[in-house]
Amino acid sequence: NSMLSWQRTSFHFQPEKNWMNDPNGPMFYKGWYHFFYQYNPNGAVWGDIVWGHAVSTDLIHWLHLPLAMVADQWYDINGVWTGSATVLPNGEVVMLYTGSTNESVQVQNLAYPANLSDPLLIEWVKYSDNPVLLPPPGINKNDFRDPTTAWYTSDGKWKFAIGSRVNTTGITLVYHTKDFKSYERLDGLLHSVPDTGMWECVDFYPVSKTAGKGLDTSVTGPGVKHVMKTSLDNDRQDYYALGIYDEKTDTWVPDNPNIGIGIRYDYGIFYASKTFYDEQKERRVLWGWIGESDSEFADMKKGWASVQGIPRTVLLDTKTGSNLLQWPVEEVDSLRLSSKEFDKVEVKAGSVVPLNIVSATQLDIVAEFELDKEALERTAQSNVEFSCGYSQGAAQRGALGPFGLLVLADESLSEQTPVYFYIAKGTDGNLTTFFCVDQSRSSEATDVNKQIHGGYVPVLKDEKLSVRLLVDHSIVESFVQGGRTCITSRVYPTKAIYGAARLFLFNNATEATVTSSLKIWQMNSAFIHPFRAK
Ligand code: FRU
Repeated sequence: NSMLSWQRTSFHFQPEKNWMNDPNGPMFYKGWYHFFYQYNPNGAVWGDIVWGHAVSTDLIHWLHLPLAMVADQWYDINGVWTGSATVLPNGEVVMLYTGSTNESVQVQNLAYPANLSDPLLIEWVKYSDNPVLLPPPGINKNDFRDPTTAWYTSDGKWKFAIGSRVNTTGITLVYHTKDFKSYERLDGLLHSVPDTGMWECVDFYPVSKTAGKGLDTSVTGPGVKHVMKTSLDNDRQDYYALGIYDEKTDTWVPDNPNIGIGIRYDYGIFYASKTFYDEQKERRVLWGWIGESDSEFADMKKGWASVQGIPRTVLLDTKTGSNLLQWPVEEVDSLRLSSKEFDKVEVKAGSVVPLNIVSATQLDIVAEFELDKEALERTAQSNVEFSCGYSQGAAQRGALGPFGLLVLADESLSEQTPVYFYIAKGTDGNLTTFFCVDQSRSSEATDVNKQIHGGYVPVLKDEKLSVRLLVDHSIVESFVQGGRTCITSRVYPTKAIYGAARLFLFNNATEATVTSSLKIWQMNSAFIHPFRAK
């Protein structure tokens, strides 16, 4: 349906048609980035899941390849579900994935490339003795899925984790193996949190305490912390916590014992994410599935559903020590075309300022904001109880916010997606910063999600407020304060499309003038080529 084709993105990864969900088995192999994904070849809704496959040399431009694995064995006939790749030191590649059997039991299976000298790894072989793991005693047959990448430990074995639950407690089981054919379960759990339900797509990896580089999944020691990430089936959000892993005792202890399930990778739509170590650029890269927030009916009409977020590098934030920094991979900068700079634009309390740019549907925006210092001091107390999700959105005026940008807006502002800072000031004089995305006026369509997303942003003394935004037709990704807080939204404007889309600065604070400096790039489209057999 061409009427809806503008919603397709131009530089985000998407199959040509049909449904996609979780990222699977990302890795770097012989010069190519491999990306697999949960895919329904038969329609734009979840079902009949197989593995799609694409390759890239830069994580931005892609070549689609034939399906890597289809549901053709008793042990995965109900679905070739999520899994992870482990590249062994001798160059071999093992893929562990979950199969849903003919009786809908979740089992773990092993697959490997048919031909390691093919850098595109087009053909995959399923191990003849699959399944390699069945749900252990005490675990429900439907709660045993999504093996992680394996890490190598000092006892000469590989270990990996699988998410599950016991009653309403979410847990991570750990297995070890020498050859990926026979496995043993370790006593104890790597982690568990009461009342969180089933843990999907667990991810477990080291981050350096000091270096600005990523680490191979097997790195341990005093210089690293380990990230434990879980995708909560209950609320469809990804949470992570930092902690210390002791590979000898197989324990992982969170830095903050009160952190519970942790903090969100992204306060918008971002789920079932997975990282891999990119040895070429010595970085850890995060992929996350960004679903639709329109109706299933609309998805069927347009013939496709879901995109993947721009891959993000992940580092420990050494300034705060308590959160990660997520940032679009540097290769996305290669799509930048012409740019326009705006220097210290003054936006008075209660005003909107148009930003005159060529086109506003494919953008990379870097913006800084400064609040009038006097107003900051004058304000005694403001918004102490604020939270994005429970607020009235960008229309709710406070002394020190909201202020930010209106993206994917039409000229009359009847459609607009405000992305903005909101500052709360406590009676103690302390400031708390939030960043929100208000979808309530993002579309005239009635069958789309109009929530207000957002969350807390750590801001250190003397730091300017800053945000980077990637706008791509129906997706807006926000990276705040260098990626301490991220928010991804899907929005479906009906008027603010193609040449009619506009960009504005706004300040809906009652007290403070805001000054903003911006650099805005037009973004090129990425090549995402279909596969054509010779
Ligand atoms: C997460 C998930 C995984 C499962 C896969 C099935 O979105 O439910 O737990 O393996 O998707 O498509």
